[in-house]
Amino acid sequence: MPFRPRYTGVIDRYRDFLPIHEDTRIISLGEGNTPLIRLHNIQRELGKEVNIYVKYEGLNPTGSFKDRGMTMAITQTVNAGNQAVICASTGNTSASAAAYAARAGITAFVLIPDGKIAQGKLAQAMMHGAIIFQIQGNFDDGMRLVKEVASHAPVEIVNSINPFRLQGQKTAAFEIIEELGRAPDYHCLPLGNAGNISAYWLGYTQFYQIGIVTTRPRMCAYQASGAAPFLRGHPVENPETIATAIRIGNPQSWDKAWAAQRESGGWFDEFSDEEILATQKLLAEREGIFCEPASAIAVAGALRDVKSGKIPEGSTITCTLTGHGLKDPDTAIRQSTGPVIKVKATLEEVKGAILDHLV
Ligand code: F0G
Repeated sequence: MPFRPRYTGVIDRYRDFLPIHEDTRIISLGEGNTPLIRLHNIQRELGKEVNIYVKYEGLNPTGSFKDRGMTMAITQTVNAGNQAVICASTGNTSASAAAYAARAGITAFVLIPDGKIAQGKLAQAMMHGAIIFQIQGNFDDGMRLVKEVASHAPVEIVNSINPFRLQGQKTAAFEIIEELGRAPDYHCLPLGNAGNISAYWLGYTQFYQIGIVTTRPRMCAYQASGAAPFLRGHPVENPETIATAIRIGNPQSWDKAWAAQRESGGWFDEFSDEEILATQKLLAEREGIFCEPASAIAVAGALRDVKSGKIPEGSTITCTLTGHGLKDPDTAIRQSTGPVIKVKATLEEVKGAILDHLV
């Protein structure tokens, strides 16, 4: 029986590529090391010669990619001697900040949009003991307030404008390169506040510049049509989408995202809420992979661009599934059409119902 060292998170794993000192006290929950799953059934039905992989970031400790960045941001904060962090969030950042702050023994203040946050995410922030402000406004209002308040109170911002967040999140690109043995040709992901696209580009570029790989992927990022400032070319006043994670009208990493798109030769595109939900369901039903609505947009983009030929045959494509489907059970149940059959608890009734479904 071979033994291997206990996995202890992205900072320990990629210490040489991160701004971390030898004697830094690390706050980690074992984030990262998430599976890169090859799509089977969807790919077969597509009838095109491509390799599509999904990076299932929903399997991080708090169920989203935010943990990769949060381990860095909270580690940095604690080592600088700070006692409190703050963030605005559509839900996942607040869940992650709350968990890592709990682990570090510091206070997390989180600002979330009133009524527009998935239940699972709210439950997480509450359970981890964050101090929650439900603001009468959206994510963009929260972000503005956070920036204002941080210059008046001793709180460290842990949104992705904190550069340590991007440093941590870039490790997903490292993992993909390690597992593929090369960089993918295309990387597809959802685009909200634009931190993650910036982080991936940072990671791919770092391994390219030090010669670990000889290519970088084209970065293809997708927005919900009701919240698509990158498609409109300017901030959007009242963003609206069922994919509440990316219900953002004024992305903070605007310039970095455009740079990633331009330098990589990639593109931005948009999807309706119906298309987003259909892809979420497709992944769940055909591949057994449950992601949240915002995440599904990455696969929606890859599939559409492969079908249209924009992504040519022979390509290797990676899609980030940013968050777990369990984050938003309400949206999942509301769109499920599968039969829930009420039966008496007798062998006869259950057997009868099974036989009905097998004909
Ligand atoms: N997917 C999910 C599940 C998210 O939670 C987010 C962002 C994104 C995609 C977009 O990533 O902002 O780096 O472009 N969620 C943030 C939050 C805004 O507050 O949890 P991005």
